[in-house]
Amino acid sequence: MADLRKKNDGNSIEERARKIFPSGGFGNLKADLVIESGSGGRVRDHLGKEYIDFVLGSGPMLVGHAHPDVTEAVEKQLSKGTTFFALNESAIELAEMIVAAVPCAEQLRFVSSGSEATLYTMRLARAFTGKEKILKFEGGYHGMNDYALMSMAPKKEADFPQPLPDSAGIPTSVGESVLIAPFNDLETTKELLIQNRNEVAAVIVEPFQRLISPKPGFLEGLRELTASEGVLLIFDEVVTGFRFSYQGAQGYYGVVPDLCALGKVIGGGFPLAAVAGSRKLFDHFDSEKVGASGYLPQIGTLSGNPVASVAGIATLKILSKAGAYEEIFETGRVLMAGIEDILKSCGVEAQVIGEPPLFDVVFGSGSLDDYRAVAACDISLLGKFNQSLRSNGVLKGDTKFYVSLAHTSEDVQRTLEAVDLSIKGL
Ligand SMILES: Cc1ncc(COP(=O)(O)O)c(C=O)c1O
Repeated sequence: MADLRKKNDGNSIEERARKIFPSGGFGNLKADLVIESGSGGRVRDHLGKEYIDFVLGSGPMLVGHAHPDVTEAVEKQLSKGTTFFALNESAIELAEMIVAAVPCAEQLRFVSSGSEATLYTMRLARAFTGKEKILKFEGGYHGMNDYALMSMAPKKEADFPQPLPDSAGIPTSVGESVLIAPFNDLETTKELLIQNRNEVAAVIVEPFQRLISPKPGFLEGLRELTASEGVLLIFDEVVTGFRFSYQGAQGYYGVVPDLCALGKVIGGGFPLAAVAGSRKLFDHFDSEKVGASGYLPQIGTLSGNPVASVAGIATLKILSKAGAYEEIFETGRVLMAGIEDILKSCGVEAQVIGEPPLFDVVFGSGSLDDYRAVAACDISLLGKFNQSLRSNGVLKGDTKFYVSLAHTSEDVQRTLEAVDLSIKGL
């Protein structure tokens, strides 16, 4: 009988990855890094090199890797079974915690990824309003669904509200139901919304778009405008949920949307995300309430998975302790200020933008209020900076420093030393 087992042929781990994955990786980070383990604010690669980690698994690990409370909760659940497709008490408890914390949330549904969550927010808005179009902002990231991949990172400038698809394979018809507006430009958004008021179901926005803070009044203006035009306001809080505050960006900025998408932190490092909003909207997930024509079926093999739920519960319990957010913000503030000082003392044309739990260095000057302004900054210099940080034992994403509760003052000190070396070496 033929041996069906394919051999590794003694290849290195990177070679094995290159053989099996297109572009050699998962499509996330550059495929030249293999992580073996993580603990607190650090990760170690397969060669044993340790890094201070500001990737945080792209954000979920806000309390740090392998937090003992999260690990204990997960270990306990593992021996009780790992997925049931049915209600389980842990998922109900996590949902109760989310609803108690997030201002717009009266009800929710669990899904497995942020991309799925944003897809449902938009579909729900269409079902509720009976209208088709979604207004999103240029440069806004809402995951990998077809609607989200409209002008997420356009390589050329189109006139607003023309969307440009970010991926091959998206039907042209999707573009016909998406309008694009410039972030932080309330006047243009208002004009577009008023011109299309009879067709627009929702405005979807990252309240803090990538690294760009909303200008004072922008989110408040969107809230007023959408309410007066009969359009729903969706906050994509996949990044900001339970990160900017226990109430998310809604609490941080004091603006409450009609519904939101949550992900990352709420799954404690496991695949879990959610759509949350008001009861009257969520009736559309209940065929008995809305009848067949208004009904949105919503089914997912791993929805409300108990392992992810207990990890989420343990994570939220850690974050709800007094002082947790103060600590995360203080760590972020010290890093941001320290990096600013280094940039100034080296006379580099660069700045630190963002908020203490999530920021980055951008190599450009002036006010960076929208996608086009940030896209005009020097991305290749940023790439070199990231690479040099990595050689100096600091790991960050391409465009982000995610700060965790587990980062220590020694981590901060060592990071600033690495930033100093890296900036001087550019
Ligand atoms: C704002 C925002 N929305 C949605 C998503 C998609 O989430 P996921 O990667 O879980 O699909 C992300 C992922 O980074 C995100 O940053």
